[in-house]
Amino acid sequence: MVSQDLPTLTYFKRFRMEIDVQDPLPHVPCLPPGYAWAPWEAGLIDQHADVKYQCFFEEIDAVVFPNLSSREGCLRLMRDISTNAGFKPEATWLIAYDGQHCGTIQGVRDRYGMGAIQNVGIIPEHRGRGLGRALVLQALHGFRGCGVHRVHLEVTTQNEPAIRLYRSLGFRFRKTIYKTADAFAALQGASSGWFA
Ligand SMILES: CC(C)(COP(=O)(O)OP(=O)(O)OC[C@H]1O[C@@H](n2cnc3c(N)ncnc32)[C@H](O)[C@@H]1OP(=O)(O)O)[C@@H](O)C(=O)NCCC(=O)NCCS
Repeated sequence: MVSQDLPTLTYFKRFRMEIDVQDPLPHVPCLPPGYAWAPWEAGLIDQHADVKYQCFFEEIDAVVFPNLSSREGCLRLMRDISTNAGFKPEATWLIAYDGQHCGTIQGVRDRYGMGAIQNVGIIPEHRGRGLGRALVLQALHGFRGCGVHRVHLEVTTQNEPAIRLYRSLGFRFRKTIYKTADAFAALQGASSGWFA
């Protein structure tokens, strides 16, 4: 048993990846039958938060960023993102399916003028259908449309499906970053096999 009082930190290795969106970009693909785009509107903040929570449930990033491991935390994140001075509705999308939402992405412009993809996620049962690729491309075209030249994101190095997706779209490694996370949350992640 580990006391929550222990100031133990766990380090997670993450990559910063970047892409130049002034270079030719693949078109945003048509979504598979039954799926539809939902552009940003303020009334959709709860839906973004809920989809985000479902996407990151038991995923490595919910250990690295404990806010992602609860609905309330995801709502806090969505409030922070959508009230950020650089928030870009053009790079913020949901994908809808059968009256529900199954995918989310959000974008902000950072203080250096670069686009920053905040979180991209597809609910597990909808993965492997090209929706993640479509969401990232939709956000990249949104950034380009509002004059952004380069876009970056960060990804935990164990997150191989996400890294493959970003590389296939043209993102390239820029640098390695170490993120500290609360050890207690990290140890909870250990039971899901993240530290094997
Ligand atoms: C990363 C994530 C967004 C990818 O979403 P996705 O919808 O599964 O992504 P895609 O379907 O576009 O691509 C995934 C794979 O499906 C394949 N695929 C795409 N369309 C397909 C289709 N019609 N039929 C079969 N396979 C297909 C892709 O080639 C890709 O294969 P690969 O991993 O072998 O390269 C998703 O896994 C996720 O939400 N993960 C949890 C949250 C997370 O970690 N987000 C990233 C934070 S940095």
